[in-house]
Amino acid sequence: MIVLGIETSCDETGVALYDSNNGLLSHQLYSQVELHAEYGGVVPEIASRDHIRKLIPLIKETIKSADINQGQIDGIAYTAGPGLVGALLVGASTARSLGWAWQIPTIGIHHMEGHLLAPMLEENPPTYPFLALLVSGGHTLLVEVDGIGCYTILGESLDDAAGEAFDKTAKMLGLDYPGGPLLAKLAEQGDPERFHFPRPMTNRPGLDFSFSGLKTFTLNTMEGLSGSQQDKADVARAFQDAVVDTMIIKCRRALRQTELKTLVIAGGVSANSALRSGLEKLGKAEQAEVYYPRLEFCTDNGAMIAYAGCQRLLAEERSPLEITAIPRWPINQLSAPNSALSACS
Ligand code: KG4
Ligand code: ZN
Repeated sequence: MIVLGIETSCDETGVALYDSNNGLLSHQLYSQVELHAEYGGVVPEIASRDHIRKLIPLIKETIKSADINQGQIDGIAYTAGPGLVGALLVGASTARSLGWAWQIPTIGIHHMEGHLLAPMLEENPPTYPFLALLVSGGHTLLVEVDGIGCYTILGESLDDAAGEAFDKTAKMLGLDYPGGPLLAKLAEQGDPERFHFPRPMTNRPGLDFSFSGLKTFTLNTMEGLSGSQQDKADVARAFQDAVVDTMIIKCRRALRQTELKTLVIAGGVSANSALRSGLEKLGKAEQAEVYYPRLEFCTDNGAMIAYAGCQRLLAEERSPLEITAIPRWPINQLSAPNSALSACS
């Protein structure tokens, strides 16, 4: 089965073709980052308008570069939520219209399920059940994954998502949008000994996170400084160390609590190399295998949506032609495809 995947939930237009027999045939990404940079964050109306401009040409380009013809596509998957409603509607209406015109099934996919399944696109994919740390611009979740659609949330952020905390702190340090990767780069020059930031919510039991206090800590730390490049790098380092350490502590707890031996990290922040190497070390210490997507599939992309859609369509899941966009959508509301046959245990 060949599935066209469409991702338009935020500021990237992603399109891909996934073949259940031959893997990923092609994926294309257009990032709107430059358009939003001058505003210091994503402007929803600009995002929607640009998805409208870019989506159809990107679909054509993806089909061409996969060297197939449109008639070979068996289904279409699109991101139905969560995300910016206008941006989601562009993907939803395009997917449903093409599905109608081509007379093939379309399916709405949960964006975070896409992220969660992105490591499945790699050569050596994880097997179920596993523990997943999902860290993006909008979500921070620790999830027990027993199969596609079988998700139990073990912990989540009570305030800012990890990526959001990176972006907001980066802004305080005068870095451009999106600040996460720039802050990570700056942190490489930072002195790890100069400042020590708290590891929020680690000195009490539980698997929830809270990152908003680190912003205040950053602000207070910066106030007493001249604001030199070295000051900023040292603060960036202390902030990143605090976030990474907190995640390692919570993942260790979750691995021990669930007795799972497989850890998957996905979402934009999983591109962070300090986080990757910290969790690799944790995996070794806990005798757990650690999996993450290749860098380009950590952040938003169409390949993860095509993959998730293909799995659900193969299981005969179908959704009605209605154009649905769900801006807020908890991941544990999903169910297994064809759940009458394969209920989560
Ligand atoms: O998954 P994603 O592309 O979009 C959402 O679904 O939100 O994640 C984007 C987030 C942004 O907050 C971005 O700053 C962060 O991921 N990010 C990083 C890195 N690369 C992307 N944060 C820290 N270090 C990185 N290397
Ligand atoms: Zn995302």
